[in-house]
Amino acid sequence: MKQWNVGIIGATGMVGQRFATLLENHPWFRVTALAASGRSAGKTYEEAAGSRWMMERPMPESMKDLVLYDATKDIETIASQVDFVFCAVNMKKDEIRALEEAYAKAECPVVSNNSAHRHTPDVPMVVPEINADHIDIIPAQRKRLGTEKGFIAVKSNCSLQSYVPALSPLREFGLTKVLACTYQAISGAGKNFETWPEMVDNLIPYIGGEEEKSEKEPLKLWGHIEGDRIVDTTTPSITTQCLRVPVTDGHTAAVFMSFEEGKKPSIETIKEIWANYAGEAQRLELPSAPKQFLHYFEEPDRPQIKTERNLENGMAVSIGRLREDTQYDYKFVCMSHNTLRGAAGGAVLLAELLAAKGYMG
Ligand SMILES: NC(=O)c1ccc[n+]([C@@H]2O[C@H](COP(=O)([O-])OP(=O)(O)OC[C@H]3O[C@@H](n4cnc5c(N)ncnc54)[C@H](OP(=O)(O)O)[C@@H]3O)[C@@H](O)[C@H]2O)c1
Repeated sequence: MKQWNVGIIGATGMVGQRFATLLENHPWFRVTALAASGRSAGKTYEEAAGSRWMMERPMPESMKDLVLYDATKDIETIASQVDFVFCAVNMKKDEIRALEEAYAKAECPVVSNNSAHRHTPDVPMVVPEINADHIDIIPAQRKRLGTEKGFIAVKSNCSLQSYVPALSPLREFGLTKVLACTYQAISGAGKNFETWPEMVDNLIPYIGGEEEKSEKEPLKLWGHIEGDRIVDTTTPSITTQCLRVPVTDGHTAAVFMSFEEGKKPSIETIKEIWANYAGEAQRLELPSAPKQFLHYFEEPDRPQIKTERNLENGMAVSIGRLREDTQYDYKFVCMSHNTLRGAAGGAVLLAELLAAKGYMG
């Protein structure tokens, strides 16, 4: 298999560190450039991020001595050294939008964790098991940007990566209404208990902007390409509440769903569909793809964070407690690892899809 040189923009941050550890021994991708803010530029990775390293695995030896670039000033230099970049930066939305377009226009494809471009109509937002076909919009985006190789592709928000995979294969039964309450880990805010001690023995019933993303982004994931844009679907109607809970990693969701009159599948059918659900990531046997995307647990007290979050290297989705409801047709609980499937791991999988389909040169 061909090898690709890659850069990590925002390498010192929580998601950037996760990219570094995931890419350390990647069979296709080799990290050759790291970048962060001007505060870190010019320092080695170890100098800039060693003291704030938050991963269980140590900083990769092969990256410790790489000297960080300035993510905004050194775009041309970085673009000349890599085939594409992963991007996860903490900046204002309009700045991120401009930054990612600047990389794309420098003919450097961008696979982004940031939310800035998620609703740009010709930017594909992809979960490879759900809507791999949306990458077919890239030629239209390249035309708009005036690029031959450069483009932007994004992954969706971490909050919905547990319930959207479970709902996706049920849409054929006319899903009409969804209610989801999410219980989200503190790493989703780039924090751990040392940096956010207020979260010990606490719950915060508000995560800025999260409910809007959780309700809107699924509609783009389930949308379709029409000409030079991706058009959102209009059903099901989705309502959410997103809570921050004292968990290090792993977002859980309690989900309620209803179907069109007369189309409601049986519990057995739903479980069978979940067990057999595979997407393009599995068909192409992408290196980071879970062998089985959705795992259903019959035990009434599963899935649990501690036992299930690392299932299939944190890339699988765990589901349990499917049962009838008095207000909706059914309810269930699901969980996924927010910084693996929900952030860096999901982006690496998307990059693998793009590489396998010939978009990374
Ligand atoms: N944490 C998650 O689970 C998660 C999940 C999905 C999406 N995301 C998204 O991923 C992005 C990064 O999140 P994070 O949790 O990794 O944030 P973070 O830990 O705060 O890291 C932010 C990164 O951005 C860099 N940065 C800050 N200001 C910059 C500037 N002006 N120019 C260039 N680089 C700059 C930082 O560099 P310095 O170290 O030099 O300051 C650092 O590398 C955000 O958009 C977030 O919404 C996060």
